[in-house]
Amino acid sequence: MNIAVIGTGYVGLVSGTCFADLGNHVICVDNLEEKVERLNRNEIPIYEPGLEELVRKNKEAGQLSFTTNIGQAVRQSDVILIAVGTPETNSGAADLSYVYAVAEEIGAELDETYKVIVNKSTVPVGTAEAVESIIQKRQPSASVDVCSVPEFLREGSAVKDTFHPDRVVIGGSSQKATDILTELHQPLTDRLVVTDTRSSEMTKYASNAFLATKISFINEIANICDIYEADVNAVAKGMGLDHRIGPKFLNAGIGYGGSCFP
Ligand SMILES: NC(=O)c1ccc[n+]([C@@H]2O[C@H](COP(=O)([O-])OP(=O)(O)OC[C@H]3O[C@@H](n4cnc5c(N)ncnc54)[C@H](O)[C@@H]3O)[C@@H](O)[C@H]2O)c1
Repeated sequence: MNIAVIGTGYVGLVSGTCFADLGNHVICVDNLEEKVERLNRNEIPIYEPGLEELVRKNKEAGQLSFTTNIGQAVRQSDVILIAVGTPETNSGAADLSYVYAVAEEIGAELDETYKVIVNKSTVPVGTAEAVESIIQKRQPSASVDVCSVPEFLREGSAVKDTFHPDRVVIGGSSQKATDILTELHQPLTDRLVVTDTRSSEMTKYASNAFLATKISFINEIANICDIYEADVNAVAKGMGLDHRIGPKFLNAGIGYGGSCFP
């Protein structure tokens, strides 16, 4: 497939590179000229095991390229992934301005040729529909389906997580788009959860909230352990060996944070 990735940050660079390695033609777009120039010199802005070799290999094979030219990337692609940032605002809500700006830019470049637009950024429920209406307003003759495929990779093991995901959630807005996205993701896993866009967007928020709850929970248990002179590590081990609970995200510590857990 011909794929454009808009936003070549952590998520865009890793997923674009991995899709190229699977045999797709991928054009990664970023509006930071310096970043694109560096990538064109094989300078990788993040450290992820295996990423530099994969970028180099797929660039040399003609499967992967980097540009600031969104128009060219959109016109040459069947599937367009949006992977720009959605930072936390002062109110705690996600700042969707980058996603919406990209929707405007994509809309300006479209003609009647059918495209699947996929939102990989972490966004509130209803964003795929909002992106579709921005595009349709900008280009009323556009033929697009806007879908949601949230990203679950972890920084530090992003390449491994992309090639061996626990699952891929596909929120499709039509059967045609769902079929295309199923074909694209099938080489990665047979654990595909195919649903509508709203449920897909909600799955990402619910997963993040659940993981954050697990961390907060064990930290509260650690406080109670302090009061009662119990050992929280033993408690976490005793809990985590129960398969219904599991040991991950049960290490008492400083709590949660970072761009994915605002
Ligand atoms: N980093 C993670 O571990 C991770 C994991 C899962 C989900 N996510 C989510 O994925 C999304 C992207 O996160 P990230 O960490 O890759 O962000 P990032 O800040 O590393 O990258 C975003 C990139 O988009 C570019 N950009 C912004 N506006 C643009 C435009 N109009 N045209 C072209 N490029 C543009 C920026 O220059 C930047 O390079 C966020 O919603 C984030 O919450 C991140």
